[in-house]
This record gives sequence, C-alpha cells and structure tokens, in this order.
Amino acid sequence: MSTSVYSRYRAAFAQALATALGVPATDIEAQVKPADPAHGDLSFATFPLAKAQKKAPPAIAAGLAQSLSVPGLEIQAVGPYVNARFAPLPFTAEVIDAARGAGIRYGGDADAGRGKTVAIDYSSPNIAKPIGFHHIRTTFLGHCIANIYRALGWRVEGINYLGDWGKQFGLVAVGFQEYGDPARIDDMAHLVEVYVKANKRAEAEPEFDEKARAFFRRMEAGDAEALKLWNQFRDTSIKGFKKIYARMGIEFEHIEGESRYQGKMDAVIDQIAKKPGVKESQGALIVDLPYAENEPPILLKKNDGSTLYATRDLAAAQDRYERFQFDKSLYVVAQDQALHFRQVFRTLKEMDLPWADRTVHVAFGRIHGMSTRKGQVVQLNDVLDEAKERVSVKVRENLEAGRIQTDDADALSEQIALGAIAFGDLKHKRASDYTFDWDEVLSFEGHTGPYLQYAHARAVNVLRKGGGAPAGYDAALLTLPEEQALVREIMRLPEVVRDAAEQYEPSLVARLLLDVASALSRYYTLGNQERDKRINVEGNDALRSARLALIDAARVTLAAGLTLLGIPTPDNM
Ligand code: ARG
Repeated sequence: MSTSVYSRYRAAFAQALATALGVPATDIEAQVKPADPAHGDLSFATFPLAKAQKKAPPAIAAGLAQSLSVPGLEIQAVGPYVNARFAPLPFTAEVIDAARGAGIRYGGDADAGRGKTVAIDYSSPNIAKPIGFHHIRTTFLGHCIANIYRALGWRVEGINYLGDWGKQFGLVAVGFQEYGDPARIDDMAHLVEVYVKANKRAEAEPEFDEKARAFFRRMEAGDAEALKLWNQFRDTSIKGFKKIYARMGIEFEHIEGESRYQGKMDAVIDQIAKKPGVKESQGALIVDLPYAENEPPILLKKNDGSTLYATRDLAAAQDRYERFQFDKSLYVVAQDQALHFRQVFRTLKEMDLPWADRTVHVAFGRIHGMSTRKGQVVQLNDVLDEAKERVSVKVRENLEAGRIQTDDADALSEQIALGAIAFGDLKHKRASDYTFDWDEVLSFEGHTGPYLQYAHARAVNVLRKGGGAPAGYDAALLTLPEEQALVREIMRLPEVVRDAAEQYEPSLVARLLLDVASALSRYYTLGNQERDKRINVEGNDALRSARLALIDAARVTLAAGLTLLGIPTPDNM
C-alpha cells in the first residue's frame, strides 16, 4: 500500500516508542496524535504508563525522548508528552515531491480500496416532480463521495435511483388529461406545472385523488396504455436531468429507478414472510416485527394492493447486492428519511441477509432560505443559472479593470458559478442545516469556492511568470516559517481524504483546502512584498526554483482537492 509522508513518520515514531516500551507497534500507533503545532508535529502522551512504571509522566517522557532516535524526526519531551517534529529535511522535499509526483491524483491511494466495491445511491430525484433542496445536497455530496472512493481505489457503482414509480404518476397522468398540453409532453417544466396543479386538486377532491390511484394501479397491473404515457413522462424528465448532470460533470454508472422492481415485489414479500414475517392489518400488508414505541410498522402493500417506497427499497437493496457484491452500500439521502432507512435496514437484518450491516444511510441536513428569482420551488438548474448570471457581472468588471484575462468569459462564469454553489454546500458538515446566502457563496473572499479557485489560478499565474515549475530544486532553502507551515498543510491531504471517506464527510476536504489557501496567501503576502517578487526572487535562481516548487505543490493540492469536490479549476481568473 502506498503510504503518505505523514503516516510513514507516524509509523516510524510509533515503532520506536513500541520498541522502547517493549509492546507491539499496533498498540502505540493509535495513541500517536498530532501535536500542538507550537511543540512539534506528533505527540505521544505518557499518562497511561504512569501506573505500571510507578513514575511521573514527565519523567517517563524525558526518559523516552532521551532514548529514541528516528531518522528525520527531532524528538523532545514536553511535560508529560514525547513530541516529534519533522526535521526540515528530508521532510520538506518528501512532501513537495509526493504532491508534485502524484499531480491531480494527490491525496488518493489506488491501493487502499483495491478489490472493494461501494454502491452509492445519490441524487435520485423524482420524475415529474419539482426537485427539492435535498436533491441539490445529495447530488453534490454523492458526487464528491463517489470521487473520493474512486480516488481510494474502490470500484464505485453510482446509482441514480429515480423516483419513477408511485401514485405521483397517476397524478401527472390524470392531471395531464385535464391541464396538459400534448405538444409540451417533452417539456419538464410543463410536467412539473401539471403535477403541482393535480396535486392541489387531489388534496381537495377525493374523486380526483381516486382517479390518480386507479391510474397507478393500472401501471402496476402492466396496462400497456398507462405504461406508454408513463414512459413518455419518464423520458422527458431524464432528458431534463441529464442536462444538469452534464453541466456538473457527473456521470452515473447506473440511471435506473424504483420502476425497475415493478412486478418483482411479490417475490420479495414472500421472502420477508419467511423470516421477519408479514401480517395483514386493515387490508394492508405490513412487516410483522415488534416496534419501538411510536415507531410505525413498515407498510409493504396498501389495502388496494399497490406497493410502497419501502417495498421497492427492500427489493433494490437485494438487487444491488446480487449485481455488485458490494462491501458498502451507501444511501446519500436527507435526514428526513432516517426512519425509512432504519426500518429498511432492520428488515434486511431480520431477513438474515449477511450483508445487511454494510448498508449506511449517509444522512444530511436542510438548506434554509434557498430561493431564486424564479420563485420558491428551487430547481438546481435555476440555482446554477442565477449563480452564473450574478458571477458574470463580477467577471466583466474584473475583465474591464484588467484584473483577469480570459478569452471565454462565459465559460469562466459557468465554472465559478458551479464552484460557488458546490463549495457553498460541501463546506458544511453534512449533518448540519445551513442557511443559504447568495452574497456569501458568490464572494471571491472568505470561505468560498471562488476564493479557492482564485487561489489556484494565482498559483498557476505565479508559476507561469517564473517560467514554469522547476524540475530540480533544493528543499533546504525553504526555511521560512510560512514555507514550513504551507508544507504541513499540503502534507495533510492524503489523511484528510481517507478520513472523509470513512466518515462520508466531504467538508473535511473542503476545510483543508481553505487551510492550504490561507497558508499560501500568508506566504505570498509575507512582509507585504509583492507576491511575484517574493516567489520569483531576482538574482537567486536556486531560491526561486525552491519557492516555485513549493508553489507548484500547493497548486497541485488545490487542484486535486477541488477536483474531488467536483469543482472546476480554471487557470485564469
Ligand atoms: N426519490 C427519493 C426522494 O426524492 C430519494 C430516493 C433515495 N434512495 C432510496 N434508495 N430510497 O425523496
């Protein structure tokens, strides 16, 4: 397995401690933590040893520090801690070379997940229904999690599990007969309009609602005419969705949907009947389990015989295992559906499916206050359009003021808009709710996508002015504290990517990139020198090469990290 610079030093430090203490290195490794930056890079606390050794922790630390010697590490006792600092060399060169050597793949590790498969259910919008804010989050989060797992060498089976089955099609169908314009059957916006109207009417008029249910029953019964109309609606929606995905650079391994399980549900229900058991309740079929208080039973079939969301998810989970033999099966879906997934997963477990505990609901919180000029019903495409419109005003200003050069202001505005919206979402911990603010996400300063894109473009520009990234350089010349601080941020990407995968938490990558960008910016602005002069020092080629190599490593880190987040990295802005 390819190991990061950080993990190699940590392992060597742990090994040395373990040898000195006469215990296995694996016992120590987890206890080696990042140090307080004022005192070093790695830290080992001696408190747990005090009892057995009958000595005060500071004395133990002092003794250990004295006896340890690890190449590349400066070891020192600080109170009860044994601390290690990366010696400037070879550490500085190792980090810079690791980043530059890996290029856009920096942070990844093709060996980590070799032979393993993850299924990721994400985006999964509902056909002919308005896209909600939660589809925006699942699309960004799922895309990024898929990128991260791919970078770690996993086989990724990304599944767009369309909500393409259910009563809502009955609503669209009967609604279309009333309000639809047959000439616009291929217009997604029109279908959504029809759905919204039909839905309102069904709430007020039980007969209309019954008509919709009857239509869905016809679909479930395989009625050719009903299915033909449904298929047309489905095609229209998919075409609309595909435009958005192309815009975001997302390619799913599979675009399928709930309808895939049409006609296969009785077999699933039979299987459930054998293990956890099913029973009839008021004409409906439910899973027969003891439930926690206030937890409703899982409905598998309504009293009119039609199946439900949960029934289809139970079928889909098994189908995915049969097709992919996944090691993990992720569902990137809003927190609002937590109960649904608890119930589905629990049923899978009760069915004794040995892979049931590989399923994970990767839940996320809400976006508050997101609205566009077009209105409250938020469509991802509208959000991106509006972002682009707002960004292009700034791009034009900057162009006129000569602050940027680009031949294609339109393409640049699109890239910045996408970066702004994606980063505005991904920087938040997925479990937390956040309030969307146009000015905040679009700002070129602060914790934003455009700020990171700008930091990246600035590095590209400095390198360009310096005559390109040097092949050879002397890392010993990078002695400024700001240089060493930047190297340490660059170092972190592989660990952060691994943590982000384990916790399904893209925000960790987002935050590291902000740290890299601010370390870079502190370095540029150091002593208020003009940045180009600081890096492209005149009359000292060796120093210039070393500084350019460091800038190049920072550029690579930003590019690799932004790419994992699904954010474009324009060279000019
Ligand atoms: N279509 C559903 C919705 O929009 C999300 C589907 C999530 N995936 C799943 N396997 N249930 O709410």
